[in-house]
Amino acid sequence: MATAVLGLQWGDEGKGKITHLLAGSASMVVRWNGGPNAGHTVIDRGVKFGTHLLPAGVFYEGVTSVIAGGVVVDLAVLREEHDAVARHLGRAPRLLLAENAHLIMPYHRILEDAEGSGARFGTTRRGIAPAYRDKAAHVGVRVGDLLEPRRLRDKVAWRLDLLRREWPSSAELRALDPDDLVASQIALGRPWFESIVEASSVVGRALAAGEEVMFEGAQGALLDVDFGTYPYVTSSSTLFGGIATSLAVDVGRIGRRLGVTKAYQTRVGEGPFPTELNDPTGAGLRDRGGEFGTTTGRPRRCGWLDLVALRYAIRLNGANELALTKVDVLDGLAKIKVCRAYRLDGKVTEEFPLSGERLATAEPVYEELAGWPTWRRVASWDELAGAARNYVQFIEEATGVPVTILSYGPSPEDTLHRAL
Ligand code: IMP
Repeated sequence: MATAVLGLQWGDEGKGKITHLLAGSASMVVRWNGGPNAGHTVIDRGVKFGTHLLPAGVFYEGVTSVIAGGVVVDLAVLREEHDAVARHLGRAPRLLLAENAHLIMPYHRILEDAEGSGARFGTTRRGIAPAYRDKAAHVGVRVGDLLEPRRLRDKVAWRLDLLRREWPSSAELRALDPDDLVASQIALGRPWFESIVEASSVVGRALAAGEEVMFEGAQGALLDVDFGTYPYVTSSSTLFGGIATSLAVDVGRIGRRLGVTKAYQTRVGEGPFPTELNDPTGAGLRDRGGEFGTTTGRPRRCGWLDLVALRYAIRLNGANELALTKVDVLDGLAKIKVCRAYRLDGKVTEEFPLSGERLATAEPVYEELAGWPTWRRVASWDELAGAARNYVQFIEEATGVPVTILSYGPSPEDTLHRAL
């Protein structure tokens, strides 16, 4: 069955571990959104990788990895990551690139810094928003343009000329030369020239043939450009529906929609976060959970699990299974709080407000559950007992979705699977 792995929070849910676990049994693994703003932590045969663009399929021989049209690709990042993984594996990862994926050009990063959106929104400063903006304004450069140097030169020179007029005092933009830009993009992209494909038909055929295709989400539902906590969001569609626009395949064939959530809540960058803990408990979660950004190294904001947000994210994605990660980070807490509703405008509500500004005024209504001393490794689901079992059951009952993967440590062994 085809599977989509979907982040249900503000990213960093542990999707890297989950996709790495599942990719080995897939025939194809597809990244459909975002770009090098993502940071998936993967432990492959004892070696830790922070991957940004490469799908988890690259770690397995015989699995084809695809970067779809909805992704924005920084070729310098891709090349670096590709070379590191190739050295580790002793072979080149098998990777296909969609010809309609857009390129993040060096001027996109310059623009993001010039605009100051890093400071205002806490972005990852990888040029994500400027690249998606150029795509929507049809002034972007696509992977397929690499194969047509004259077309590429024309697009880059025109875009650069417009940008210089918009930012006349930018020495960095003035220093860029269109011929150098084109030459460096072509040199970086050359190893994949044979692997540039019309991804919609490649992935569509695999789905139609009933192959095990896994769709690897980046970021999370609450960062979605349309349904996240706007304007504190990323620029792509992070939801299940994003697969349809990124690839235009029959998403009805994707039966397993595995939503990934941590056992608590984190957020990196600016934006509302009702259950945030600015106290020693929050700091404890950050230390025990190693909550520092994979892409930027920034400390993540930490807080209690927010069930209002989780139910909203499940609904947006139609998630039918849950992977609950990092439950061991809650070890040793006498009491664990879970937010079951918000107090908004003096009323208690279980509805998640679409406006980020309104969410900023929400106060969490908590329920307190018993904690556990240490998470003990158990061989089967049935052995799960006491407060730990209660916590998992509480989440299942509150969301109406079964937890089928329980992760209680970074390595693949620290995982409990449950068949439905
Ligand atoms: P951008 O995607 O770099 O434009 O950043 C927009 C917002 O999304 C910022 O708050 C980032 O911290 C956040 N963000 C983007 N990608 C990720 C991710 O993979 N994990 C967590 N937060 C992310």
